[in-house]
Amino acid sequence: MSDVTYPARKPARPFFSSGPCAKPPGYAPEKLATESLGRSHRAKIGKTRLQYAIDLMREVLQLPETHRIGIVPGSDTGAFEMAMWTMLGARGVTTLAWESFGEGWVTDAAKQLKLDPTVIRADYGQVPDLSQVDFTTDVLFTWNGTTSGARVPNAEWIPADREGLTFADATSAVFAYDIDWAKIDVATFSWQKVLGGEGGHGVLILGPRAVERLESYTPAWPLPKVFRLVSKGKLAEGVFKGETINTPSMLAVEDAIFALEWAKGLGGLEGLQARSNANAAALDKIVAERSWLGHLAEDEAIRSKTSVCLTVEGADADFIKQFAGLLEKEGAAYDVAGYRDAPAGLRIWCGATVDTADIEALGPWLDWAYASLKK
Ligand SMILES: Cc1ncc(COP(=O)(O)O)c(C=O)c1O
Repeated sequence: MSDVTYPARKPARPFFSSGPCAKPPGYAPEKLATESLGRSHRAKIGKTRLQYAIDLMREVLQLPETHRIGIVPGSDTGAFEMAMWTMLGARGVTTLAWESFGEGWVTDAAKQLKLDPTVIRADYGQVPDLSQVDFTTDVLFTWNGTTSGARVPNAEWIPADREGLTFADATSAVFAYDIDWAKIDVATFSWQKVLGGEGGHGVLILGPRAVERLESYTPAWPLPKVFRLVSKGKLAEGVFKGETINTPSMLAVEDAIFALEWAKGLGGLEGLQARSNANAAALDKIVAERSWLGHLAEDEAIRSKTSVCLTVEGADADFIKQFAGLLEKEGAAYDVAGYRDAPAGLRIWCGATVDTADIEALGPWLDWAYASLKK
């Protein structure tokens, strides 16, 4: 390509960040309910709104009654580390890693908790051979690798009669894929991803076997108050009814409620998935039409439909920085550079809060940035 054609039309909402992600269409801060602000989160209004957020999440996720769902501190990291620190150490541990965040959990397990985990890795764009996983151990994995665009295809590789627990960091997976909850003992996410909510709070989902672990096992290490889920040998059930461990941001809660009501209005989980699938398909068409663009995750069965990572022919980190910088300067696309630790490339969020027309409008802008830099 040699022509530098300035595209006629910009994406209406040029927000393609993989976290915090685009706000839901139609979002405006003045549309948020504010009655709970400036009040105690333990007053009736605060507890009611927290419980409402929990009820909406359960409904939109189609989470079965077997699983508890609670709001905890520290975004997805807080929720996942809370699960690691409170439940690991009872048996062997296997950690799966195919990108930066999975590697973070390996570091936690090996260097902080000193658990000597079995580590199964794959390169960026791939997932390891999941049939090799030993389910007599606790197994930690990232459902959707946000920094590599590679995900597990489903939960079929997890046996129903496993001995260990499964811990899924599902922050860029929930609301986008079908999750077989019977195979998941612990899952975590943050509102800032597929819902286009705010960071700050994490969501912790516990299946019955995780609760059993919490009530029957005490880790050898001390636990800070923000990680404590058990009181006098019993699960702190209040956490799953809106009685948060410490003070939440009610503004973040109201923001999440806005997103969840939007999601419900779309038809819930299926509505969100349909939007994400359409976005990923529109981006895939753009890639297919250009010889200089490719998917980092070549195998479609494990390719993300949320954080889609693209290779750019001949690009290094500096080229990508300039590429993303040009698009940002034009107001055509924000935050499309790949993650700093990933191979140099682009990352385009295709989650439900992005409009398909905006993905479609992105194609000519990618051409323009590429041609401008090549010139
Ligand atoms: C897979 C994965 N895990 C963990 C995190 C950290 O999330 P948070 O910043 O919400 O704690 C992210 C953020 O992008 C992520 O993509």
